[in-house]
This record gives sequence, C-alpha cells and structure tokens, in this order.
Amino acid sequence: MKIFLDTANLESIKKFNDMGLLDGITTNPSLMYKEGGDPKAAMAEITSIIKGDVSLEVVSTDSSGMIEEGRHLREYGENVVVKVPMTPDGLKACKSLSSQGIPVNVTLIFSANQALLAAKSGAKYVSPFIGRLDDAGQDGMHLIQEIKEIFSHYDFRTQILVASVRHPLHVVDAAKIGADVVTLPPLVLDKMLLHPLTKIGLENFLADWEKLKTENPDINA
Ligand code: E4P
Repeated sequence: MKIFLDTANLESIKKFNDMGLLDGITTNPSLMYKEGGDPKAAMAEITSIIKGDVSLEVVSTDSSGMIEEGRHLREYGENVVVKVPMTPDGLKACKSLSSQGIPVNVTLIFSANQALLAAKSGAKYVSPFIGRLDDAGQDGMHLIQEIKEIFSHYDFRTQILVASVRHPLHVVDAAKIGADVVTLPPLVLDKMLLHPLTKIGLENFLADWEKLKTENPDINA
C-alpha cells in the first residue's frame, strides 16, 4: 500500500520524505490555507521535493475552468495529479484531462456509486473520505470494502486513495482490505512510528550498556 502525506506543510513533508516513507502528497485548499504564505511557492516546492504523485486541487466549479486550472497546475511538474470535486462538472473535467494524459484524483467521494462513476470517467484515483463518514455516524471503512469489491469485478485502473484518515487503526484496516493508497495527516504518521514498548526497550538497552561500561571501564578502549 502506498503512503501519501495529506498536508502542505513543508517541514513535515521533508521529515517523512527523508525517512523514505512518502510515495506522494495530497493537498486541498483548506490545507493550503492552514499553512498560510504563498500557495504557488508551496506547490512549486512540494512538487520538487516529492518524486511521486502530488495532488493539487482546482477551485473552479465549472468544467472549463477546472480543465484550464488543471493544465496550469501541471506546469508545476509532471508528477502533478489534478484534484477535482465529485460533481458533474468535476467528472466532465476528469474525462477531458484524463484523455489528454493528465492524471486526475476525484475527491469528496462519500458513496460507492460516486467511486464507480469517477472510475468510469477515467480517474487515476478516487478519494473516499472515511473520517468524515465516521463523524457523520456511518462506517467509513465499509465504503472502502464496497469500492474494493466493485473495482475487483471490472477492468478499472483507478486506484482507491483512502482519505480523511483520523488514526492508525484506519491505516491497518485499509491495508487489510487492500486499498491502493492511504493519505495521512502528519500526526497519524507520527503515531504509527511510535510504540511505548519500543521506547522502554531502548531505554533499558542503553541503561544496561552504561552499567556494563561502569563494570568494565576498558570496554571502549
Ligand atoms: C484528501 O485528499 C483530503 O485532503 C483529506 O484527506 C481530507 O481530510 P479531512 O476530513 O481530515 O479534512
């Protein structure tokens, strides 16, 4: 399963990229707003740091505006995936951009039917928002299971990009289902790295090594 980072925060992107963990990035207008500053500079830097796919979202609501924006966004790099909303205009833009060889991520997917339609429009990725479904009292992970099953019956090349991830258990469940990608807020990736037994185990190893050194002062000689 590929791991994308769901952020426009350059520090986090560099930190996890240096660990070799990142296959790509997803951004959206809210994430750009959260970071402040010049979004154009941020998009240019993100696409240069990350070799894998970087989703940059359009803000037009009509298909021709989305297509034009999509073409501009691709100027940031060959790894740019144009993110369009799951609307009739979004699908029209998806079909047009995809047929020009520009990959598209259809975002704000909340039902299996929406994922099916986005796949038929030629999307490279569909982004079901599982955390927001959980928040609304629906089982977000069940949607991933449904989409996975539906896609398995057909010849779609569309990848399931699990979005709106809230905690590490979401990641385990998505991997067990066989989702293609999860996009993670930096905080979730931080939590996945840590386990209290790893911390305690390392502390004990180092403390024992110090004791051993005290008993054998020549050990490092
Ligand atoms: C996906 O690409 C979105 O940027 C993101 O996962 C939305 O997550 P949220 O529900 O935490 O805002």
